[in-house]
Amino acid sequence: MCGIAGYIGPKNAAQVLIVALERLKYRGYDSAGLVVSEGGKLHLRRAAGKLKELDAKLAAQPLSGHCGIAHTRWATHGPPVEHNSHPHLSADGRIAVVHNGIIENHVALRRELEGEGVVFASQTDTEVVPHLLAKYYDGKDPVAALRTVLARLEGSFALGVVFADRSDRILVAREGSPLLIGRGREPKAARTDDRRSTEGGTPWTERELLVASDIPALLPHASEFLTLEDGQIADLGPHGVRITTFAGDKVEARFRPIEVTAEAVSKGSFDSFMAKEIAEQPSVLTRLIDSRLRGGVLVEPDLGLDLASLRHIVFLACGTSWHAALLGKRFLEALARVHVEVDISSEYRYRNPVAGGDTLVVTISQSGETADTLAGLRLAKSKFLPVVGLVNTVTSTIAREANGVMPLLAGPEIGVASTKAYTAQVMALYLFAAQVAKAKGLLPRDAEEALVAAARALPDLAERTLKLCEPAVEECADLYSAAQASVFLGRGGEHPTALEGALKLKEIAYVHAVGYPAGEFKHGPIALVTKHLPVVCMCPRDAMYEKMLSNIQEVKARAGRIISVGDAADRDLRDLSDHLLPVGRAGDELLQPILSILPLQRYAYHVARRRDCDVDQPRNLAKSVTVE
Ligand code: G6P
Repeated sequence: MCGIAGYIGPKNAAQVLIVALERLKYRGYDSAGLVVSEGGKLHLRRAAGKLKELDAKLAAQPLSGHCGIAHTRWATHGPPVEHNSHPHLSADGRIAVVHNGIIENHVALRRELEGEGVVFASQTDTEVVPHLLAKYYDGKDPVAALRTVLARLEGSFALGVVFADRSDRILVAREGSPLLIGRGREPKAARTDDRRSTEGGTPWTERELLVASDIPALLPHASEFLTLEDGQIADLGPHGVRITTFAGDKVEARFRPIEVTAEAVSKGSFDSFMAKEIAEQPSVLTRLIDSRLRGGVLVEPDLGLDLASLRHIVFLACGTSWHAALLGKRFLEALARVHVEVDISSEYRYRNPVAGGDTLVVTISQSGETADTLAGLRLAKSKFLPVVGLVNTVTSTIAREANGVMPLLAGPEIGVASTKAYTAQVMALYLFAAQVAKAKGLLPRDAEEALVAAARALPDLAERTLKLCEPAVEECADLYSAAQASVFLGRGGEHPTALEGALKLKEIAYVHAVGYPAGEFKHGPIALVTKHLPVVCMCPRDAMYEKMLSNIQEVKARAGRIISVGDAADRDLRDLSDHLLPVGRAGDELLQPILSILPLQRYAYHVARRRDCDVDQPRNLAKSVTVE
């Protein structure tokens, strides 16, 4: 968990780093800090709470200096108070460290260091690192000291280190947590400014260098990036970037252009990233659909797999991505007649799953960094199973470790609650199922044409649905934002929608909410129904429509407040409901859940606003969960 950043270059490091932290907030935001190395000293600023607290501290006590590292935290070891915030310093204040991940053997290391007289200032696992570095650093070779320390660490980490006596060097190392290095544009001419390296007094002539857990935080200063691999150390300084393995072997630093724009990671005219990302869904869907077609015909994904021989698929995912996986199972069963299992990654990885050689594992993850899903991927690979990653972040670890990648092309998703990545995942799974069906000869030409037409019509329907449902959604949010709990019911393809709608409300509005298969509701949970309980009922005109109407009747008979989601022109449903959230009707019933979730995303957003919640940074959460 957590986000880390670093900067060396001609600009004010603290100012660059605070912007980078702003873009990493989604990885954790319960405290933040940064350190700048200047004039032979380390200058530290840290604050508990949201980033604005650190910003205020910096405004009151500004920092100059051109080399620094920074961190935004999601607490694992020790509560989110200032002394547990990163960076952490060695006892002599000469070495500072930021860390994303968990040092699993920190207790033993701490005992050893305490035995040697070191006094710890925090409860974190991270603090052992600066103390160990101080123990091994001889004032000459910082990389050698880091290499010695790394050999003693167990667990996962992305580390950033700066030294008081080297104010133009940042060292980073990676094992299990993401870390990218960015490089600025080539300077037009060698600068003649007065910025001097402390090492040898030579002017800084290299391009500026950045470090971050994710690409958005490298913007706008970096134009190129590289991904540091597990088991590698990078030494950043006036010499550029030197990469070696933990064992000391040299590795070539290969930079690639950054394709994400600064605009894609800003809110634009929206009040929150969540609102922006909800509104982006029609264009995201269009881009995704176009990427899977050539001349209006489905093309087979380049996964190095024989789709025609697929018999068995296992989906691994967490959170919202798991809800998309539930729909993926329906699509593959319905269109391609493939047997599919859906597993929550954190469960799969600790079982001993039975898997034959004909099993394909598909890991679904927006970030591509979720620790449990990554562990599931590695477990599957250890069993020699082919693994495909359905990911949004194509520079992620899952994307790099999977045998094949299906990109979502949704653009950076920054709001913690997943919205556009979810609908993109659902569409991508639908098109994947169609591609498998086609490869197996189960999708005749006319059926393919109808399927493609239904997919292509969906972005417009999504656009219209977002407009159409808004007044009713706002009215419901006004009426029910104070409700203590809510239930979401759906059948068939709308069961995952019910789960996802409930998750959105829990995540960002802190309302206790459960999603249920509507047919199962009568087996216990119906006891919850009173006239105070809003029950959101997914009732589009699909194969389960009549059954769903009966389930709604059961709730109505017990005085529950019915908010249904369905066709605007459905008189029966309107009469039965207290409120109807109207949605468009998809050309293929399988795609309907993409439309049905839209009013529920907006409902959660509006309820959260009315309850004064921060929709982009809900309490206790982080977007990218890189710890178990
Ligand atoms: C976190 C986020 C969820 C997300 C889940 C899986 O819990 O808060 O919104 O669905 O991780 O993330 P992934 O990046 O693997 O899709």
